[in-house]
Amino acid sequence: MTFTNDQYPPSGRYQRSFWKWSIEHLERMDKDEEDGEIDTRIYDRYLSLMSAILVVPPPDSYMTYYWKPLSSLGCTDRSSHETITLLESRTTIESGTTGLRTWCASFVLASYLIANAETIRDQTVFELGCGSGFLGIIVATIQQKFNERHESHRQPLPAVLLTDVNAGVLSRCRDNVQLRCNQSSNHPNITFSTLDWFDALSLPCTSVGVVIGADIVFDPILVPPLSARMAVVALTVRNEQTLAYFVTEAVKELCVEEVPHAFTSATYFDLDTAGVDAGLDVKIFKFTLHNSAS
Ligand SMILES: C[S@@+](CC[C@H](N)C(=O)[O-])C[C@H]1O[C@@H](n2cnc3c(N)ncnc32)[C@H](O)[C@@H]1O
Repeated sequence: MTFTNDQYPPSGRYQRSFWKWSIEHLERMDKDEEDGEIDTRIYDRYLSLMSAILVVPPPDSYMTYYWKPLSSLGCTDRSSHETITLLESRTTIESGTTGLRTWCASFVLASYLIANAETIRDQTVFELGCGSGFLGIIVATIQQKFNERHESHRQPLPAVLLTDVNAGVLSRCRDNVQLRCNQSSNHPNITFSTLDWFDALSLPCTSVGVVIGADIVFDPILVPPLSARMAVVALTVRNEQTLAYFVTEAVKELCVEEVPHAFTSATYFDLDTAGVDAGLDVKIFKFTLHNSAS
């Protein structure tokens, strides 16, 4: 089934750039052709988009991100790609929360998880501060692809538990995960819970395999919740000293490993270089118990 831009329209800004680019190209081609004529509906569409610029703040819009699953997930066609579509805020903070858009740390952690799919592909995954659902969709899709690959001895899909303190954010996350254009909409074992990450230790989740989190707080109070299981967390370095203090406290309880990472050619999430986290470093840390194997 194909899903069109009419169902999940991109932002006005994206559409304006697209039509501006198209008109410039068509006009250039037009000059070279004697009888060429540009359909006036193209100009009308562009002008209607330009007149909508005055709407402040920009409305929420669908964002579609492209990525390539690796061969470890059974992808043999090197030119094929996957898409993830989410309804997102186009502002940094909306309705008093930062959770209605996807942050750079999620792109970095997603790239790491795609390249290291064995970390989560057959594990129960628990996300703290899940925001709009970008990482949850990636995790669910990786698990589904891994399961499809092992058709002969398929296992029930592991659970994915997506949590956030903000009920509105969680509701948006659920809607995005369940968008029919996302493979995650067919994952049968995803749950959504309102949860303050400082209370995470009180959850009965001893069966959780991996805790993940992107752009969450780095407060030492988070160390006990991370201690019950393996955790992989991407932190955007907004304050070096706070991060150093967090790591100092964490190593007293846990093995803390900073994981080198880079955007690989396997993925191409488009970092919004003009965004609020432009130029900020994102670090990935892996936390394990002192006596655990990895
Ligand atoms: C900067 S956003 C990151 C969202 C998402 N992880 C991403 O990377 O796109 C921080 C998220 O943490 C959530 N959050 C803030 N305080 C929290 C808390 N005490 N417990 C759980 N989630 C919290 C917010 O609602 C928001 O969704």
